Amino acid sequence: MGSIEIEPSKSDVSRRDFLKLLAAAGVGLAFTPFIPWGKFMPNPSNIMPVKAEVILPDGTQANVKTFPKNHSEVITYPLSGDPVLDKEPFKKWQFVRLPDELGGGKEDVSAFRAYSMVCLHLWCLWKYWPQEGRKRGECPCHGSMYNMINGKAFAGPASLQAAPSNVLPILYLETDSDGNLWIKPAIWNVNQNGIVGYGRFLQT
Ligand code: FES
Repeated sequence: MGSIEIEPSKSDVSRRDFLKLLAAAGVGLAFTPFIPWGKFMPNPSNIMPVKAEVILPDGTQANVKTFPKNHSEVITYPLSGDPVLDKEPFKKWQFVRLPDELGGGKEDVSAFRAYSMVCLHLWCLWKYWPQEGRKRGECPCHGSMYNMINGKAFAGPASLQAAPSNVLPILYLETDSDGNLWIKPAIWNVNQNGIVGYGRFLQT
């Protein structure tokens, strides 16, 4: 029986080529802050990153009064309105309300986080695990684990990568007077929201 070959999409090829470029460039480049990485990465930079509602999978806007503690949902940012483009993994974020012990009980924006779902190791999609003894982000591919307070990898291969490739990109959030959650306009830069698939420097 013959096998069926599936031709990789152009974006798969370009991502693979980019990984090769990273490998060839070596760790030294990772420490070079003036390289405009955002131009090379498939960040959704062609869409103006504007302030946007945190829209949950059920179509409603997240609210501090109703979103459960120790719980996560997948959100999309920035939304293009095109259902195909909006399925792009580089637009997917884990929107997490922290557990009580990490501050999730507060009725304000500090109880929430939104991190890029693209694992900083080899771009599998990680997710939040709320079970007792976990309460962290875990990547199913090679076991990288992420601290939900700051998005920093603390176990697995992503934790061994040099900064900024050991901290997940983040969306900064705010609330309105009704408790509705909003995403502040993102800046795809390693010193601000970070670069999806590449990382972010932790700000002190
Ligand atoms: S892709 Fe996530 S640990 Fe390797």
